[in-house]
Amino acid sequence: MQKAIYPGSFDPLHNGHIDVIGRAARLCDEVVVSVATNSAKNALLSIAQRIDIIQDATSHIPGVTVTQFEGLLVDFVIEQKADCIIRGLRAISDFEYEFQMALMNRQLRSDVETIFLMPSQEHIYLSSRIIKEIAGTGNDVRDFISEKAALAVEEKLQLKK
Ligand code: PNS
Repeated sequence: MQKAIYPGSFDPLHNGHIDVIGRAARLCDEVVVSVATNSAKNALLSIAQRIDIIQDATSHIPGVTVTQFEGLLVDFVIEQKADCIIRGLRAISDFEYEFQMALMNRQLRSDVETIFLMPSQEHIYLSSRIIKEIAGTGNDVRDFISEKAALAVEEKLQLKK
């Protein structure tokens, strides 16, 4: 495969995401990590912060670029002339949502395939939502996200270390 889009909210990027990016980069020449700007989720970090964090955390992985997109993911995939969408699959609980999204994307554009990659077992329990919840209680989340991401999350949550 040549070019893959890895879309998400990345609010914030965590070690499970980085693991999936590394796996995708071993399969594809180019992996475009793409931050959705119109996600229904109420984001903590700005798009610029999320892009900065992803660039910083993935600079060691060859073939990875970071950008943002708005509108439908499949339109962005076509615009980018990408070969596929990459999504991480952690557990059975992810499956229903991911299955629905992949099939809807295929319905919208039959030529766009979704490829699911499983992160390493040690990251299987990570989620941006839970990390923000833990950070919100004043606990350290540096085991799960980068220093840069932790600082941004703490600042947004107005936590002083
Ligand atoms: O990290 P997330 O929040 O699980 O990522 C979800 C994301 C951004 C990939 C998804 O919401 C998306 O593709 N949004 C773009 C709008 C779109 O195409 N919606 C239809 C998807 S079936």
